[in-house]
Amino acid sequence: MFSIGKINLEILQKNAYNLRWATVPDGVIPLTAADPDYPCAPEIAEAIIKYSKDRYFSYGPAEGHGFFKESMARFFYEKRQVPATAAMVLPVDSAAFGIDIVCRAFLEKGDEAIVFDPVDFLFRYAIEKNGATAIACPINIDPTICFDVNVFNTLVTPKTKMICLCNPLNPIGKVFTKSELEAIGEFAVEHNLMILSDEIWSDITFKPFDFVSIASLDLKIRERTIIVTGFSKSHGLAGLRIGVVAAFDSKQYQRIFDASFHDSTIHGSNVLSQVAATAALNQSEYWLAAFLEHLHSVRFLTVNGLNAIKGFSCHSPQGCYLAFVNIHETGLDSATLHKQLYEVGNVAVVPGLTKWFGKGAEGYIRISFATSHEIMAEALERINNTVNLLL
Ligand SMILES: Cc1ncc(COP(=O)(O)O)c(C=O)c1O
Repeated sequence: MFSIGKINLEILQKNAYNLRWATVPDGVIPLTAADPDYPCAPEIAEAIIKYSKDRYFSYGPAEGHGFFKESMARFFYEKRQVPATAAMVLPVDSAAFGIDIVCRAFLEKGDEAIVFDPVDFLFRYAIEKNGATAIACPINIDPTICFDVNVFNTLVTPKTKMICLCNPLNPIGKVFTKSELEAIGEFAVEHNLMILSDEIWSDITFKPFDFVSIASLDLKIRERTIIVTGFSKSHGLAGLRIGVVAAFDSKQYQRIFDASFHDSTIHGSNVLSQVAATAALNQSEYWLAAFLEHLHSVRFLTVNGLNAIKGFSCHSPQGCYLAFVNIHETGLDSATLHKQLYEVGNVAVVPGLTKWFGKGAEGYIRISFATSHEIMAEALERINNTVNLLL
């Protein structure tokens, strides 16, 4: 399922946008947006075809289809030890939009929300778009270093309303331990803060690291937590724009529903995407297991290859198919190295710019390794050759 032969570059070059194959010149390998090079599980496509055969694409329920909400609640209960109810699971058109809805529902102008730095840009984007301020909380790039919750004490003010948790943490690949999550959760309880837990990467963890949802810890923490998750990373469904927001308090759920614009039909989750995500949950567990096994070995190749390059060093990610590479020793900034790798090496990476990950990412580049051994080996050779030319 995950050999080089299963990657169809011709289709990717037509279909894969967002800094990926369709947006780069022929010959460039895009290790950019985290989106697998492999096609999704066949059961997902078959479910879409089956639904489509009836040729009815009527409006779906504003709160989402029961079959998907129930599958999602079961997933939370069985796979995450989180007692979610279908009634408080809202299908939305992507995890990105889910984050935006939660910020719209719970933040006002003048409010502050704590975000890790570095972290994917979506939190900061949604916080600021909704008139609040993102407060950066530095976190060690080494995922094995325990997060010290005391840092929050230096950041919290009477205006702080929310802690944004990305677990596993894109881009550093940290999987938070139960005790780190307990400390974060207890801090939130003590300071009466909401927790926005982005768990889109929760299926992508590497043994011995296991994902724990902060909402599984205890009721006091859960009732102030909103989970956002999606299917772009784990099942390759980015273009279907499907995600979920789960609440554990009916008043909070109502605020989220109101902020979603679903009632007016201005927004709403695509019916085919809900069908696809249901098949992802219920019929493609075997596919995800094989994908993880494949990623495990590509991670090994990627991290070893990167650490062998002059001036590069990176930790092995505990989760996420991302390598976050320290390039300080090259003496180049991330924008310059990105440009050289693109123009000379024919490899696209994500530079550690503030706009992508926060200030803490400067001096780093991010590489997605959800591809084949062969493509990754070729990319590593090109990166190595380019760096040797530069240094
Ligand atoms: C941490 C994180 N959250 C959310 C998203 C967005 O996911 P979606 O495609 O469902 O909007 C991404 C995608 O890169 C991500 O890494």
